[in-house]
Amino acid sequence: MNDDLEQRAAELMGEAAHGYFAGGAGDERVMTRNIEQWQQYRLAPRALVDVSTIDTGVTVLGRRWAHPIGIAPMAYQRHAHDEGEVALARAAAQAGALFTLSSQTTCPPVEVAAAMGDAPRWFQLYVFRDRAVNEDLIAAAREGGHEALVITVDFPVGGRRERDLRTGFAPTHPTLLDRVAAADGVALTLAERHALHDPSLTWDDIGRFAESSGLPVVLKGILRPDDARRAIDAGAAGVVVSNHGGRQLDAVLSTAEALEPIVDAVAGQASVLVDGGIRRGWDVVRALAVGADAALVGRPVLWGLAAGGADGARAEIERLVAEVENTLALIGCPRAADVDRSFLAPARR
Ligand code: FNR
Ligand code: LAC
Repeated sequence: MNDDLEQRAAELMGEAAHGYFAGGAGDERVMTRNIEQWQQYRLAPRALVDVSTIDTGVTVLGRRWAHPIGIAPMAYQRHAHDEGEVALARAAAQAGALFTLSSQTTCPPVEVAAAMGDAPRWFQLYVFRDRAVNEDLIAAAREGGHEALVITVDFPVGGRRERDLRTGFAPTHPTLLDRVAAADGVALTLAERHALHDPSLTWDDIGRFAESSGLPVVLKGILRPDDARRAIDAGAAGVVVSNHGGRQLDAVLSTAEALEPIVDAVAGQASVLVDGGIRRGWDVVRALAVGADAALVGRPVLWGLAAGGADGARAEIERLVAEVENTLALIGCPRAADVDRSFLAPARR
């Protein structure tokens, strides 16, 4: 089903853009494993539970979400559809999904904010060598009404993305980074953009961002329980268990594998989200059963955006939400907030 949507999106976008959006690092084994490993978690339904009313609501960073699905930050969305981030943000707002705006947005944050009303949104921050750029990005996050700063920590340098090396994909729609970092207006290549990331970022910096931004900080790209603990010690309000959709290192663990020990280490002291390979509503419920508070979804909504603009993206989000509702009814757990490890088959406990 999703393959058909991706196929349509690919035809509309052309090979280079599709390769950029779809691709992963190296042989793309981690990207594939992210999808496959969710199947290790098999749900054990409770029978004869009244499921006539389903409540998909969950609480993340102290705020209630209508359902446990958020949109992962993704760069360069105007290369997927002319309306780019504005369209995906509108779709998310309409479908009750948290929207995360990438530092590499190809639409101005004020326009994205205007498309969202007062719907919930986070801002993803890449920390660049040029600290003035970071200040501008944080200012954009505040002005746009974003409720949290998602600092991505798995990108000190770019991964080896062989599709991009083959096609030479170079984003032509400018981003905030071009506006603030390349005053001459010349578009940067992917490699030049990656070289702007600050590879010397460490834990000491995180505490400073948490203090100076005035926004709750969420660290995205955590794969180890000891790092999750350090995140909390550094002042983070949440973590996203993520391997960047398999786009960075093709030798890391899948997020389905990483999640459980991280949930145990965090022990309820921060919000835990997960992304990577979540393709169905029942994958979202699997993540909740392991102990995540919510899940982020990347590529599927991009295919919806590319194939059908805001309506296409919204249809993808609504499909996932409908699958979550259906799964909750069929496992005998009418409230998403009540899904726990008792719903996992014993082989995984
Ligand atoms: C990403 N991702 C990403 N993450 C981030 O923190 N900032 C970014 O700008 C981007 N850009 C980006 C572009 C594209 C095309 C993709 C596919 C991904 C990673 C993203 O937030 C998320 O971690 C993964 O996409 C989740 O995996 P799935 O759902 O795509 O399998
Ligand atoms: C990517 C970056 C921009 O994954 O996050 O392409």
